[in-house]
Amino acid sequence: MAKIKITETVLRDSHQSLIATRMTTADMLPILETMDKVGYYSLEAWGGATFDACMRFLNEDPWERLRAIRERVKNTKLQMLFRGQNILGYRHYSDDVVEYFVQKSIANGIDILRIFDALNDARNLETAIKATRKEGGHVQAAISYTTGPVYDIEYYTNYAKQLEEMGADSICIKDMAGLLLPYTTYDLVKALKETVKVPIQLHTHYTAGVASMSTMKAIEAGVDVVDTAISPMAQGTSHMPTESLVAALAGTEYDTGIDLTELNEITKYFTPLREKYLASGLMDPKVMKVNVNALINQVPGGMLSNLVSQLKQAGKSDLLDAVLEEVPRVRADAGYPPLVTPSSQIVGTQAVFNVLNGERYKMVTKEFRGLVRGDYGKTPVAMDPEFVKKIIGDAEQITCRPADLLKPELDELRAKIPQYMEQDEDVLSYALFEQVALKFFEYRKQQKYGIDATAADAANGIHSI
Ligand code: CO
Repeated sequence: MAKIKITETVLRDSHQSLIATRMTTADMLPILETMDKVGYYSLEAWGGATFDACMRFLNEDPWERLRAIRERVKNTKLQMLFRGQNILGYRHYSDDVVEYFVQKSIANGIDILRIFDALNDARNLETAIKATRKEGGHVQAAISYTTGPVYDIEYYTNYAKQLEEMGADSICIKDMAGLLLPYTTYDLVKALKETVKVPIQLHTHYTAGVASMSTMKAIEAGVDVVDTAISPMAQGTSHMPTESLVAALAGTEYDTGIDLTELNEITKYFTPLREKYLASGLMDPKVMKVNVNALINQVPGGMLSNLVSQLKQAGKSDLLDAVLEEVPRVRADAGYPPLVTPSSQIVGTQAVFNVLNGERYKMVTKEFRGLVRGDYGKTPVAMDPEFVKKIIGDAEQITCRPADLLKPELDELRAKIPQYMEQDEDVLSYALFEQVALKFFEYRKQQKYGIDATAADAANGIHSI
């Protein structure tokens, strides 16, 4: 009986972190049956940025990818990452869209939904949790992990308790920026195990080179499930290698029940793919190095590269240090949000503007105004009323659950795209990424009916499964 369970991330977060979410379904299919037999607890295979990337960059239908994976993975649970009321997008959607998305995700093969909110505002998880329970799925409610003045053990245990009461079947510590250190992890997992009855799962990133140590301390503190990635797609900004953990725990009271030799089949499959990604430039050796910047300035890796590119575009690369000093100040003004999509972009862009304009909040982005107004929910710390007034003027702050202000959207959306609807799920693709979905639908139509044979042929050569 395996004691420590493993979620393999190679089909989702691992390639999202290392190769900008560009792994194609064709690259996944040949190894799925082998992966299904190894004895993983689950495969994280869908959600996060994969949905957008499928249509935007790969001309693939994300729903078809999910069905293709499910067809080959008959025993192992499939899980996805779900941004609460943001689903897989960047704004809040109405409840009917969230409910329908959950229903269709489960109907097409998802077992476990890892649901989180960027502000840790539990109200933004309500609809997704209820819908998942209704459809018979496993609710894994995730805590967005960050550091800062309010983020002590009590903050996290209180939030976990709340999530358990809301119906979570398990709790995930989601350390998206790789900020967790081994002894903090130990204390956090221990406290969570003492607070809630449901299993605890750890998700951290290898970026600062401490993920293996943190994972080991989590295991000693009683964690139930951990996320790892098969070695050719591990380390760097990804996760700790699956093989290393399996070997480290073999024969101990924490044995994973996974056989290293069997696992090696999967390693062998992904090794040439890694070479292919490196050769094509998709995988940048730079992201494979240990990088402790996030531990120094609390700016996650993905956010840092955004800041660098924004400054480069403005011809002001020399202002990076000033921006890195401004980020924590903007974050403090805005009530210390965890820096994860979409709050990381909102805070980062505002910090860039503050520095470039030589005056703080001389220009305020629409998104930052929204964050201050409460469009995304309640920030972990209340903002100074003077500051709120400065940013939103006489406009009123939203104090209710933001989605309560949204009217049902589905019928209207369906009515807009009858000419493209080939499956019920298409309305959801359209709801989340309107322009990207339309472009994909158009491409799909051409493929199918050969309206533009040349374009279809060219694309077929690159993307056929
Ligand atoms: Co992650």
